[in-house]
Amino acid sequence: MRLFYDIIADKRDKKALSKEDISDFLQSYLDGTLKDYQMSAMLMAIFFNSLSSEELETWTEKMLYSGEVLDFYDIEGVVVDKHSTGGVGDKISIPLAPLLAELGFYVPMISGRGLGHTGGTLDKLESIPGFSVNIDKDSFKKIVKSNKMALIGQTPEIAPLDKRLYALRDVTGTVESVPLIASSIMSKKLAEGINGLILDIKIGKGAFMKDLASGTRLAKTMRAIGKRFGRSVDVLFTSMEEPLGYATGNALEIKESLDVMQGKYVPQVTELTLRMAAVLMKTFKMTTSIEEGEEKAKKMLETGKVLERFAKTVALQGGDPKVTEDYSILPESRFRKEVKAAESGIITKIDALDFGKALIRLGGGRLRQEDSVNKAVGFVFAKKVGDSVKTGDLLYTIHYDEEERLKSADEHLENAVKISEKPAESIPLILGSL
Ligand code: URA
Repeated sequence: MRLFYDIIADKRDKKALSKEDISDFLQSYLDGTLKDYQMSAMLMAIFFNSLSSEELETWTEKMLYSGEVLDFYDIEGVVVDKHSTGGVGDKISIPLAPLLAELGFYVPMISGRGLGHTGGTLDKLESIPGFSVNIDKDSFKKIVKSNKMALIGQTPEIAPLDKRLYALRDVTGTVESVPLIASSIMSKKLAEGINGLILDIKIGKGAFMKDLASGTRLAKTMRAIGKRFGRSVDVLFTSMEEPLGYATGNALEIKESLDVMQGKYVPQVTELTLRMAAVLMKTFKMTTSIEEGEEKAKKMLETGKVLERFAKTVALQGGDPKVTEDYSILPESRFRKEVKAAESGIITKIDALDFGKALIRLGGGRLRQEDSVNKAVGFVFAKKVGDSVKTGDLLYTIHYDEEERLKSADEHLENAVKISEKPAESIPLILGSL
């Protein structure tokens, strides 16, 4: 085996890494002989110098087979999942998984924690009292088979390498990299034994991909990995200029997700949930058009079955299913601060990146791997981009627990909302598909 130092230096100097180099390097990290500081250096070298398609194939394969790969051959049905590249207020997976289950799919969803300034499905789910995302492989399979869905994190058995690299990237400034995002997402998704995947590639200020060109590069990279492993990969490109929906923060986003599952129309959140479901239905020939799929999905949300499915899932994963009827069992912050408009006009900006970072300052996200997350804090918006406001109208409410943290978040938000005389050019939520 070559020295770790030489393998890192090769990537730093833009030399190609062999299959053996990548395999040895990742295996050594898994078994503990390669340290976090060496892996951090490699991640930064990849951040700057990328991976060739051959290197990425080996890197992803090694991540995928770092744990067990599930199969659902004994299930009669289509097994699918959805994954987002990460956004602010992005809670779509939570209503979408039970919706897909009720529409006839099986959904063995493996998600992540907050990454950088973006929120994570696991942190949100853990705000439900008792809910466990740490479930062993056999129980996970059993729940998926009996309940059609389960929502867990990377485990020591499934995609363990992603679990460790993901946490390391989160705190070393190495998130926004096409090969690192593609291998992270695809390794855990392929490990689920799915037939098809829909990717929500977020584009804009609050996303890791700042423009459609880099988003398209990422989409094509992930599709190529999917193809190599024989899985269908649908892609939606969606805007992440402003936070999605009206809530950001773990428990606050669970409440908004429950609203959607109750059949309430929550702008942006319901729209995207329906579209994702419709794309998968069309891909797997359950409908002939997106419109038909959206209509079916909307009707399904209105039946109450999606909420019931979620309640069942919560109970099976150790959580309190009462959450679906009584939001007061979710963590609540001790204090609120209302932020009001200083002038009249039209809102032209609610900056997703600023609000994502401000949430971390409130304690709702991590700065270091070992940080715990305050599930109660966050923001509830009263307005969205494009709305008119008068001086003194409520813009958003900050849910917080500590004055110091509030001050730090407030300072960060000084220019996060812009009110202008004229409306800005409107950006559609769904920017395109692949
Ligand atoms: N989601 C993931 O699972 N991994 C990434 O790297 C980014 C978003």
